[in-house]
Amino acid sequence: MFNCPLSPEKADRLVEHLALNPDSYAIDVGCGEGEFLIRVAERYKIVGIGLDKNSDLIEVANNKVKTRIPSQDVSFVCQDAKSFAWENQKADLIICIGSEFIFGGYRQALQCLSNSLIDSGKLLIGTVFWKKEPNSEYLSLMNKENPHFDYLTTVEIGIEQGFIPLYLCRSNDDEWDDFESQHAQKQYLTALHNGSKQAFERIQRWQRGYLKWGHETMGFVFLLFQKRHI
Ligand SMILES: C[S@@+](CC[C@H](N)C(=O)[O-])C[C@H]1O[C@@H](n2cnc3c(N)ncnc32)[C@H](O)[C@@H]1O
Repeated sequence: MFNCPLSPEKADRLVEHLALNPDSYAIDVGCGEGEFLIRVAERYKIVGIGLDKNSDLIEVANNKVKTRIPSQDVSFVCQDAKSFAWENQKADLIICIGSEFIFGGYRQALQCLSNSLIDSGKLLIGTVFWKKEPNSEYLSLMNKENPHFDYLTTVEIGIEQGFIPLYLCRSNDDEWDDFESQHAQKQYLTALHNGSKQAFERIQRWQRGYLKWGHETMGFVFLLFQKRHI
């Protein structure tokens, strides 16, 4: 449903906190199957666009529009979000969940997306944070990449970039286990189906890393920011 550690219940809570006016314009960048934007459109009358470069996911999202919100002005477009005309946008809401890497990182995403919001526009960004400093073995599993911050720093970077943190919530253990298990299950079954020992061992290593270090090191936070104009 979501390609991040998020339960349907928490998604609905986040949607409530958006408190959008009718006919708000919303953009979901790296929207995946579009589930979050669809829920926003089920709750509020909006004009919305979702962007993802994966055409299979966009097809799923557009099928959901037909069945769940046929009378809403919401569409999903297969496009590299880097080539989207961000400079021409004035959105009431931008959603960017697990997709800040598209802009080169968390801070860069805040900078870029802020310019495409109206004054007092809202940004819902979901990102990884470190619950504790990752150790080197865990980082090796992630190609030694470390673009994340601790919780406080993650919030403070948003404030630095001119946002007010309106509402914050974090993924809990159950959401993480559900997300990681669904990912592992899909990878195991695909590896078995394709007879790929290499793919099988890769997901085994990843799952072990999650159990050994990940669950106590990596957190995920949803930050509802409002652009500050004073
Ligand atoms: C971690 S997933 C998050 C999906 C969705 N926001 C959710 O929470 O379910 C990141 C998404 O970004 C998409 N993506 C990656 N690079 C992209 C790009 N340059 N332009 C648009 N979408 C991109 C991927 O296809 C993937 O669906």
